[in-house]
Amino acid sequence: MRDARTLEPATAPFHIGVRVPGDKSLSHRAIIFATLADAPSEIAGLAPGQDVISSMRAVAALGTRMSEQRLNPPETMTRPTEPIDCGNSGTTMRLLTGVLAGAAMRTVLTGDESLRSRPMRRLVAPLSALGARVTTEPDGTAPLVIDGNHLVGADVSIDIASAQVRTAFELAAIQAEGPSTIQSPAGYRDHTERWLEAFGLASTDAGGPTSITPGRIPGTRYAIPGDPSSAAYLWASAALVEGAQVVTPDVSLNPGRLGFLGILERMGAEVNGEVTGEIHGDPTGTVSVTGRGLHGVEVSGATVAAAIDELPLVAVLGAYAEGLTVVRDAAELRAKESDRVESTTAMIRALGGGAEATEDGFAIVGTGFLSGGTVDAMGDHRIAMAAAVAATTADGPVTILGASAADVSWPSIYDTLEAVWSSR
Ligand code: S3P
Repeated sequence: MRDARTLEPATAPFHIGVRVPGDKSLSHRAIIFATLADAPSEIAGLAPGQDVISSMRAVAALGTRMSEQRLNPPETMTRPTEPIDCGNSGTTMRLLTGVLAGAAMRTVLTGDESLRSRPMRRLVAPLSALGARVTTEPDGTAPLVIDGNHLVGADVSIDIASAQVRTAFELAAIQAEGPSTIQSPAGYRDHTERWLEAFGLASTDAGGPTSITPGRIPGTRYAIPGDPSSAAYLWASAALVEGAQVVTPDVSLNPGRLGFLGILERMGAEVNGEVTGEIHGDPTGTVSVTGRGLHGVEVSGATVAAAIDELPLVAVLGAYAEGLTVVRDAAELRAKESDRVESTTAMIRALGGGAEATEDGFAIVGTGFLSGGTVDAMGDHRIAMAAAVAATTADGPVTILGASAADVSWPSIYDTLEAVWSSR
């Protein structure tokens, strides 16, 4: 019997402030930056969940030592005795590939069945330009074999707005002999570029390429803000209930993470944000979302990259909105932890809504209601969590099969949603 969780709809408008768990993208980066650093670092507020544990285990296999919040990098990386298991985490695998491209040893990176089916060939061309030797399986998937090499500077251009591919390139390029540049379509989360710039290793021309200067990352302190991709589940839940409000302090406000807030606003929710701090040049702040009536929207272009992890939530909102919601230019959805074009539309249909998959996105018929029902998470955390949010205003309960898929990013989300729904 697979693990299942049933959520009952909220019964009245809720008003609450919630501190969400640490940002996953920044947690992976802090662990990996600290591993490449020339002195120990301190990391506070790491994201919970298996994905970040995958990164911690991986760097431990390379000789990084961690106790409490202190991370001691190895003087030179130790050669792992067996393949490094990145679990379900694409960020761990892709970022580490860049790191290992410049380490004088052979490493093998592998992962669970979902990760071993995801596209990794996209790393090969940009890293090869630096002199890296990375081999995928014949179909472009993991396990990846990385034979560390002496790297040289290179100028590359990639055709997807992938922060993971950019970061892999940049973490290899700081180890190269000579400067490099990288250019890609806009909309990607530029956490890595901002941190490298704060450390004097990168600069980005407005709308142009990022230049990388080789050098060492310093030992430093990382105070990880809350994860806007986790807060998004609470924002969406508030947006579904007229007059409900959720306030989330100290979340990352990186422009490449704000696509969903813009979509919420366009759909009719009331959104307020205020920058209150920063982490190495990357803004953080408070966001509040208040529910007002929703209407359908079209999502395309650079907004897609800046909302990529939240698109299953856009489908849920679209089902409860008035009119049609259409997402295009989002073929990347098919390369996530599940084929999210198929899993998202299957979720909406399982809950009694109208959804159609297209080649590069989906269309959702906004009827204003969902009946509830049983959703298969398809092993994908974001489908499990979006289905939970769909319960907010469903006519009946929502049961999530394989609910523990959420463990990779936010293990306690169901309890948090229930607590939010019962707050007044
Ligand atoms: C991430 C980048 C995005 C995102 C993923 C995390 C990151 O992937 O979907 O959840 O931390 O860099 P891509 O870079 O492949 O678009």
